[in-house]
Amino acid sequence: KTTAFSGAAIGKGNYRHFMEKELHEHPAVIGDTLRQYVDPATRAVARPALPFDPATLPRLWLSGCGSAFLVCNTARYWFETLARLPVDCDVASELRYRDPPLTEGGAAMFVSQSGETADNLAAMKLLRSGGQSLVSVVNVPESTMARESDTTLMTVAGPEISVASTKAFTAQLSVMACLAINFARARGAIDAAEEARLTAALLEVPEHAARLLDSSTEIEALAADIKDARDVLYLARGSLFPIAMEGALKLKELSYIHAEGYAAGEMKHGPIALIDSSVPVIALCPSGPLFEKTASNLQEAAARGGRIIAFTDEDGAPALRRFASRVMVLPKVDPFVAPILHAIPVQMLAYHVAVLKGTDVDQPRNLAKAVTVE
Ligand code: G6P
Repeated sequence: KTTAFSGAAIGKGNYRHFMEKELHEHPAVIGDTLRQYVDPATRAVARPALPFDPATLPRLWLSGCGSAFLVCNTARYWFETLARLPVDCDVASELRYRDPPLTEGGAAMFVSQSGETADNLAAMKLLRSGGQSLVSVVNVPESTMARESDTTLMTVAGPEISVASTKAFTAQLSVMACLAINFARARGAIDAAEEARLTAALLEVPEHAARLLDSSTEIEALAADIKDARDVLYLARGSLFPIAMEGALKLKELSYIHAEGYAAGEMKHGPIALIDSSVPVIALCPSGPLFEKTASNLQEAAARGGRIIAFTDEDGAPALRRFASRVMVLPKVDPFVAPILHAIPVQMLAYHVAVLKGTDVDQPRNLAKAVTVE
């Protein structure tokens, strides 16, 4: 099976790679996706009918593969903290064989760019036979996953050609953020004013994303800094932790540098043993409730000779500059939308490292765009 679009039909324009072109589509894609799910007049989330009532839903499964699984991980923080909804999150390749106990009246959401990933389809079958209602969040409307689910929620990312997912990732995050707000409202966890405040924060993301894409010279300098590393550690806490994993995933896929995304608080239970001056430590550490905790983990890494490269905002920068070797200042945003914004520089960083290393950016070795066999 192939997706509906092929690289041959779609050009790279003036870009060197499809990935570079697709990175530059982040602002438009996030904006287009949000326009699909937010009513600009009322600032309320408007979504298609679902096969369950979010007000009474007892439990939600989130599943996917690769970057889409990391979207599920981020969404788990949103659904739990904002909507007070219990969530289970698992990679589809594990879920399909786990035979977990399922809650009656429960539902599952599967996230996928292609809508064709074999493990997703198998896990969907398992949950369907366990009586769960199924929603797919996909980028290809005529895909098998769309057909196999009760409801399909579309990402509006357009065709994605580069094997490594970029714009589909932020489009998926945008859909999940809207759903978390909508479910929070339905469950009485937030009021209309808070819904409007959160959707307003989301609607500002495209503009911030465009500014980030303009700062590629700074990212290229960071890329030069880490391109010769053998190992790179990505650290973050909370809803940024899955984005640290996304940064590590992209770096290893594109540049073949070993990278790991770790919860910052877990660093002392293992990865700290690796840290010396040859291991760059990339931190996603915006100001907000978890800032102090993450910053103190980074300080511990710096004390062991780790070279800290921090992504933060203007409020977080002064404290981090005391020990970090590089600090990149991103626009200050509501902590709720910070994962979407931080995804962009970590993907750009992986892209620029790959370009410097001369790897095949759009078709990394051994990887496929859609994994349709087990
Ligand atoms: C492959 C791709 C990844 C993608 C994953 C899941 O590994 O290289 O970029 O995240 O599959 O694909 P899907 O189409 O289900 O999102």
